[in-house]
Amino acid sequence: MVSTVSMAVDLGGIRMRNPLNTASGTYGNGVQFEGFYDVGATLGAITCKGVAAVPWDGNPAPRLAELPGSAIMNSVGLQNPGVRGFVERYGDYLQGLRDRGCQVICQIAGHSLDEYRQATELFEELAPFASGFEVNISCPNIAQGGAAMGATPEAAAQVMSVVRPLTARPVVVKMAPHDVAEIGRALEASGADALSLINTIPGMAIDIRTRRSRLARATAGVSGPAIHAIAVRMVWECANAVTIPICGIGGVASGADAAEMILAGATAVSVGTANLYDPTCVPRILVELEEWACGQGVSDINELIGAFEC
Ligand SMILES: Cc1cc2nc3c(=O)[nH]c(=O)nc-3n(C[C@H](O)[C@H](O)[C@H](O)COP(=O)(O)O)c2cc1C
Repeated sequence: MVSTVSMAVDLGGIRMRNPLNTASGTYGNGVQFEGFYDVGATLGAITCKGVAAVPWDGNPAPRLAELPGSAIMNSVGLQNPGVRGFVERYGDYLQGLRDRGCQVICQIAGHSLDEYRQATELFEELAPFASGFEVNISCPNIAQGGAAMGATPEAAAQVMSVVRPLTARPVVVKMAPHDVAEIGRALEASGADALSLINTIPGMAIDIRTRRSRLARATAGVSGPAIHAIAVRMVWECANAVTIPICGIGGVASGADAAEMILAGATAVSVGTANLYDPTCVPRILVELEEWACGQGVSDINELIGAFEC
């Protein structure tokens, strides 16, 4: 197909050749997918796995369970090698992605405001390849019994007040699936350049024979096609509350799913769990999205952002 539609979008200063991004934690750090297609030539951006100032072990196994309908539950718990380990392992590869026109978004994790500060400072110093940062405010707050760091508008704004002064690069904030309008407004007011949503939705899967959880923990995050309709609704609610751009995430597995996100108000769209059960899905989703945009008779995909009519 020879496309006549301009697919380039701007996610809060991250200029993407097309709207497709990857959801943190579901795509390795890109290199794992090079055997399937040319990552650097295909995606608008990749978002890397969440990384903290120092390595985290994550939660005990088992921490993944398959659910009906290609959905999964995970309680990986942000296992990561720390910023230094991440840069040593992936820095050269990620610089190469940038050079090939794919934007690189590094995700910042922390258990406290001080940990966000340390991680951001290290990324600033060691990661010139990062086009921008995504701040994961769903990490558990160790000082407050494990509630998410960004569970309230005030708490979310506090995280931003630490990260924002430390970098001039674009900052996207990855939101948990609750109060997205109110928390989105607080994040915009505290200097976020863009928002990404949603993260996984807490769920449970019980082995009825043993009466225990199918994972090592009682609850875990549900992702995949099962959450798509909820994610589209939340993107729409958030888009109606803020003026900064949004990256839509949740159960995207086809061009039609990505198109729904765009119509609901997303500027970019991340593919997550679909990468795990169909590792070649991204190029297909891109072709399908472009075909849809062509069929809508527009010359620029930006004309379709938020074009949903109630
Ligand atoms: C195995 C796994 C690991 C994840 N790790 C992270 C992470 O490190 N940081 C984050 O913000 N979200 C993480 N997520 C959530 C995804 O980025 C995404 O928000 C969520 O899975 C919903 O999108 P999906 O339905 O397309 O997978 C993870 C999800 C899965 C399945």
